[in-house]
Amino acid sequence: MSIKPLFALALALSALASVPAMAQTVKTDLYTVTDGYKVDPETLKGFRTWRQAACDRCHGANQEGMVGPSLVASLKVLTKDEFVKTVRDGRLEKGMQSFGTSKTVMDNIDYLYAYLKGRSDGAITRAKVEEFKPQ
Ligand code: HEC
Repeated sequence: MSIKPLFALALALSALASVPAMAQTVKTDLYTVTDGYKVDPETLKGFRTWRQAACDRCHGANQEGMVGPSLVASLKVLTKDEFVKTVRDGRLEKGMQSFGTSKTVMDNIDYLYAYLKGRSDGAITRAKVEEFKPQ
């Protein structure tokens, strides 16, 4: 086979790959994510809160766990109420600090939960997300 038809096929495939209709979207009550990292504005706020509060210092840049446990694993088990209580009150004797006085964290706790739940579910496939911009 000559190289030309192959090249044409590759071109056709790459054109297909860039068609927005091919995008993979996961939508739940908590978050909407396309292609694993393009999220709705509220889930993006959750990610920004994660960054601002520097949860990654203890839970790892990819929520995989360091000093603190993996939140990818934890959020498969914890209820939302348990999550909120833990973040608000901390577990001071065990090294988890309290964020109850952090306005950033408490104002955005639902979004922070949504973002982390998306990571835990595997729907958000990388820690750094971006805002979804419809084409
Ligand atoms: C100073 C280090 C530190 C920081 C900063 C920190 N954590 Fe933690 N976190 C921990 C440790 C240690 C634990 C485990 C406590 C225990 O053994 O019960 C924990 C536990 C948790 C748990 C409960 C996990 C489970 O399975 O029970 C959640 C949820 C959590 N952290 C979320 C957060 C979030 C969200 C932030 C940022 C707003 C944050 N943490 C910031 C150290 C930290």
